[in-house]
Amino acid sequence: MTQPARIGIVTVSDRASRGEYEDRGGPAIREYLDEVLTSPFEPVARVVPDEVEAVASALVELCDARGCSLVITTGGTGPAVRDVTPEATEAVCQKMMPGFGELMRKVSLEKVPTAILSRQTAGIRGRALIVNLPGQPKAIRECLDAVFPAIPYCIDLVDGAYLTTDESRIAAFRPKSAKPPAGVER
Ligand code: MTE
Repeated sequence: MTQPARIGIVTVSDRASRGEYEDRGGPAIREYLDEVLTSPFEPVARVVPDEVEAVASALVELCDARGCSLVITTGGTGPAVRDVTPEATEAVCQKMMPGFGELMRKVSLEKVPTAILSRQTAGIRGRALIVNLPGQPKAIRECLDAVFPAIPYCIDLVDGAYLTTDESRIAAFRPKSAKPPAGVER
């Protein structure tokens, strides 16, 4: 039996971290993963304020200490003074993956003109992929539907967990030459 993949979910919000506002983004990401992933996973959720240090240390803890293969953040990607999630992501990643932000903005712009205001990005820390999403709960599905097909293979390439998806929902793309690990059905 393969170990469940750990997946970090980080809500970045001053108000949610103080308990003044119900975290709706974190649960929406969890719901999305439940719907799309067919491989076992264990979610590890955090709610942090809009501060570079707080976001960066949550990302480091989830990637390094908790061994997450994927960490999805929501919130703090805009232009306001307190929006610092992309800065924290860049600070902890060894490699940036700008295509994720480019594609998410492209699809989001078809829904809402203010999608251009999100500086959402993605990057690699060790064996983990970190992906930023805007804070609007409805943006979560719009953005993840666009990039999720590429997420499992990206994680394969950094030796993270092997993720499989419900093909009727999201068809994960892996090149034909990519071999699944021993004992895993493709
Ligand atoms: N993208 C999608 N798909 N849907 C949205 O509603 N909101 C935009 C943008 N991207 C939005 C979106 C808005 S209004 C802002 S200000 C930015 O994301 C940044 O949001 P954040 O600071 O909550 O991360």
